[in-house]
Amino acid sequence: MNLLFTPLDSTLGARVTGGRIADFTETEWTQVIDGFHTYAALVFPDQHLTPEEHVAFGKRFGEIECLRPGQPYVAVSNLTPDGKIMTPKEKRYQTLRGNEGWHTDSTYMPISAKASALAAEVVPAEGGETEFADMRAAYDALDADTQAEIADLAAYHSLYQSQAKAGFVFKTGEAYGYHTDGAPLRPLVKVHPVTGRKALFIGRHAYRIPGMSDADAAALLDDLLTAACQAPRTYLHRWQPGDIMVWDNRCVLHRACPYDYQQPRVMRHVRIAGEPQTECGIGAIADERADGYAPSPAAH
Ligand code: OGA
Ligand code: MN
Repeated sequence: MNLLFTPLDSTLGARVTGGRIADFTETEWTQVIDGFHTYAALVFPDQHLTPEEHVAFGKRFGEIECLRPGQPYVAVSNLTPDGKIMTPKEKRYQTLRGNEGWHTDSTYMPISAKASALAAEVVPAEGGETEFADMRAAYDALDADTQAEIADLAAYHSLYQSQAKAGFVFKTGEAYGYHTDGAPLRPLVKVHPVTGRKALFIGRHAYRIPGMSDADAAALLDDLLTAACQAPRTYLHRWQPGDIMVWDNRCVLHRACPYDYQQPRVMRHVRIAGEPQTECGIGAIADERADGYAPSPAAH
């Protein structure tokens, strides 16, 4: 059997049809991994994977990054474990709202993520899409002067910073990613370890550039982000229950789109770990702190 890859109306992404993931042959898996490297984001409609099948899907791309100890998948959902709608005071709600900013997963961790696989279970009638942006094409679209200007720059990535900017102050240890061991420093231009293609490596967790004032860094990062996340490099996925998507966090930004948070939205997320050789930061600074972290006034 052969899978069909239909490119999306964007520089990234393809829709994959023609088989059930749970039944893919080794030949089809080779097609999928090749397609992942070519398209950077893949949509598999109408799959309705069980959590176990979802985790097995993730393992085809690499080791699983557990967002909770011993738990290979997590709910990305506005429902509490007993099925009630979360209130805005809940940290998990604040995490969902933070996801509405362009980002790539786990860049604030010592090893940033390779890929993420997100499956839809319950979706609201309106909104709640996920949008993707191709940072390979975004890099290629920069003029030569800008490419030269950023070639050797790097930024620190921090979830405290990105959540504080969104209006949510978290304490150390309060949720995944709020660690104490320093914010990783990552190049603004990432060379893809498999394809060798350059991609802009930015997003909401990036906040400080060595050798620049924080204000200049923020302005540069904002300008790059705004220019990058434009057609034809973006794709908005309108979820149907049963869809699963996988994207390459090394060259794709994504964000959640708002919806009526009184309506349930239940997604399941499996994160695939980066490789230590290529997804480690360049270094770390010790400005992530213990409880009581306060964002600078400029962050509000
Ligand atoms: C994520 C994420 C976006 C969404 O799961 O990492 O950013 O639309 N999700 O839920
Ligand atoms: Mn995410």
